[in-house]
Amino acid sequence: MPTEQPVLELRDIHKSFDAVVAIENFSLAVHPGEIVALVGDNGAGKSTLIKIISGVHAPTSGTIAIDGKPVTMANATMARSHGIEVVYQDLALADQQTVYMNLFLGREPVNALGLLDRRKMIAETEMLVKELDVRIPSAHATIRDLSGGQRQGVAIARATHWASKLVLLDEPTAALGVAETAKVEEIVQTLRKRDIGILIVSHSLDQVFKLSDRICVLRRGKQIGVRNTAETDKNEIIAMITGVN
Ligand SMILES: Nc1ncnc2c1ncn2[C@@H]1O[C@H](COP(=O)(O)OP(=O)(O)O)[C@@H](O)[C@H]1O
Ligand SMILES: [Mg+2]
Repeated sequence: MPTEQPVLELRDIHKSFDAVVAIENFSLAVHPGEIVALVGDNGAGKSTLIKIISGVHAPTSGTIAIDGKPVTMANATMARSHGIEVVYQDLALADQQTVYMNLFLGREPVNALGLLDRRKMIAETEMLVKELDVRIPSAHATIRDLSGGQRQGVAIARATHWASKLVLLDEPTAALGVAETAKVEEIVQTLRKRDIGILIVSHSLDQVFKLSDRICVLRRGKQIGVRNTAETDKNEIIAMITGVN
């Protein structure tokens, strides 16, 4: 395992929603350039953890450190300011807008006259799309004209553009077909080169074994264990997820 400073370190995270304990004593470090998969049955607490790291939910207790420094993620804007971006399964893009506007939504650059700097947005979109090999007709294409895989490619490109530390993916291929899923998996693999940490939630163990360096298993809010992907197999992970040997 990498010995360098983790980009993300969660220590003893606990989260309750009134009487429901969603996460107990969860600790995990994610290193630059590392892909960690978070797996577990429905209701295990995976999305809750993603929301804690992205500032949507505050943990009931426990600490979050970015580059070794403790941080408070009071809201999503604060998480973004720490270099954390999220990709959800439900393709959260503005349908009527172009690809380049989506990449910069809410964070549009302006030129010296205070006008939207479209030239800059288009140039950066084209560069990123090429680098990640997201195959779209053009930066000017409208989101609703793209396939699900292309849209998710744009969502990942957006996250990658803004994330300096960490990209969180919560079931990014759940709404996609087979070929589209394969394309998104390729794009996720290219993120490794950018030295950001990746935490991906997935139901597909094929996907988890294809993409991840380590696998973290949750069951009913409890952290069952973390394995190096190269040193485990599906049987072990399934046993950890279900609690049945
Ligand atoms: N906003 C909420 N209010 C109350 N309970 C919640 C809330 N979000 C999640 N939970 C509960 O926390 C547990 C974990 O849910 P979740 O993190 O969505 O699981 P997963 O993503 O692994 O399927 C579930 O029991 C769920 O009902
Ligand atoms: Mg979920």
